[in-house]
Amino acid sequence: MIVEGAFATLGTQENVHGIKFRLGKGIPRMGWIANKLKLSCLNCGREYPWSFTLQCEPCNGALVDVDYNLDNVTIRSEGCHMERFFDLLPLLDRQSILDGQEGNTPCVHARELGKWLKLPKVYLKDETKNPTGTTKDRQGGLPVAVFRELGIHEFITSSTGNSSTAIARIVARFPDMRMHLFVGDEFLSRVNVVGAENLIVYWLKNGTFVDAHKAAAWFAKQSGITSARGIFFFGQREGLKTAFFEAVDQVPEPIDVYIQGVSSALGVYSTYKGATQYLGLGKIPKMPRLVCVQEETCNPMVRAWEDNAETIRPEHIIRYPRGLSKSTLRGDPTMSYPYIRRVVKATNGTMVTATQAEMREARKLLYELEGIDACYTSVMTIVAARKLAAQGWLSPDDVVLLNITGSDREGAPYPQPNFVVEKEGDGWRIEPFRDEVARGCLDRVYEVIRQTLRIPPEMKLDTEIRLLGGDLALDSVAQLELTLAIEKEFGCEVPPEDINAENFLTIGHLADYLRKRLCDALPA
Ligand SMILES: Cc1ncc(COP(=O)(O)O)c(C=O)c1O
Ligand SMILES: [Zn+2]
Repeated sequence: MIVEGAFATLGTQENVHGIKFRLGKGIPRMGWIANKLKLSCLNCGREYPWSFTLQCEPCNGALVDVDYNLDNVTIRSEGCHMERFFDLLPLLDRQSILDGQEGNTPCVHARELGKWLKLPKVYLKDETKNPTGTTKDRQGGLPVAVFRELGIHEFITSSTGNSSTAIARIVARFPDMRMHLFVGDEFLSRVNVVGAENLIVYWLKNGTFVDAHKAAAWFAKQSGITSARGIFFFGQREGLKTAFFEAVDQVPEPIDVYIQGVSSALGVYSTYKGATQYLGLGKIPKMPRLVCVQEETCNPMVRAWEDNAETIRPEHIIRYPRGLSKSTLRGDPTMSYPYIRRVVKATNGTMVTATQAEMREARKLLYELEGIDACYTSVMTIVAARKLAAQGWLSPDDVVLLNITGSDREGAPYPQPNFVVEKEGDGWRIEPFRDEVARGCLDRVYEVIRQTLRIPPEMKLDTEIRLLGGDLALDSVAQLELTLAIEKEFGCEVPPEDINAENFLTIGHLADYLRKRLCDALPA
């Protein structure tokens, strides 16, 4: 069977799923490992033994991906997702399966929401029903199972909270493992596994998610400990497709379109792979069009897509990402974007931006109409569906699957960090956490704002609240008062030319301004 796949442009030969790639001369070929799977470079087709090989060095780090022998696949109707879809997951031994109670989530025909969207066939894959409330639970057990099968017991990772919570929950079951987790100041409270001694938390108290990612990569190099490597690790990618597999059985008609809020778009890539496999197995009649959605304040992929760029260029990168959708604050998706673009293009899909006003409205609506309390990342799918329906890109006949990827774990306990990490020269300083250094930059900003502007305790503060115009609409007196209080709290001088919309537009802007100042070690 030939699928005109995403990688057709790369070359001349097709792999087992009909996806074409360039097969260089003298490139090693190994055949199926255990008659089940293959690890091969997407660029040159070089095959690797069953190992933690994520990138092909001769191809400048091109992605090494997993393929499965479709002649040997049985999909089971019962069990946890690793049991049901074992033949399409990167594990050789059934003994490796870990049941974390994830998956087998409901998929609802959203009739009321569908009326509002003018899309009568809209379905919601309700991933909020997973154990930690997000689709990342599918990405929790699988990488741990793969690590264990490959004999890796210690690893480093960073996250905006959901995937690390999912992974840490499973790691906590294995005293012989250690997980080193790097988190930005705003994200510590989103890591909701407490009391696990083998979870070691490194907190960048003045750092963003991007800083945490960089610090984690630096630490991996220094320590020699395995880095989980996000999108590059097939163990992290592959589990996400099982939401689509389940939906194929749950939706009564073939799925025409799959929509997801994305950061690196691992879920979309994985869904593409899954759909390709299901096509090969004859379980679905066509490849769904894939749609990625990002928030207006952090939409590097959509920007690149709209420029028809094959790679992320400097002008697409969001240096200080912020937004309502906390799990997609990846301002620089350089590594994953080219792969995602190819799969989205191959399916005649698209990429869409959601505004914050639209997201707030969609979140309320989803709760009121369908009773699902989802996070802002999830509801971006509703915004995208509405836009695409209005443009005629989606028609009322289309069967549309929205991946409601998660909910917020509001108020859930989070661990005390083991270490505090701060920028130092070209590297990072890592020091044991002490109570007296316990406040992060954003928390300090919140507190100053609360006190200076006398904000009542019941009003929740968020990085997206506007200081100038909109929400708080500070007049010049309040602005001055706030500036003085910030100077006092941070022991620095804020020069008059710095008091502008670039630095003071929202609470997030102010926190970023101070993070930059803290990195440059303050006073003016
Ligand atoms: C709830 C939720 N939805 C969506 C995403 C985006 O996932 P990706 O871009 O990796 O597919 C994340 C990432 O952490 C998430 O936590
Ligand atoms: Zn290669």
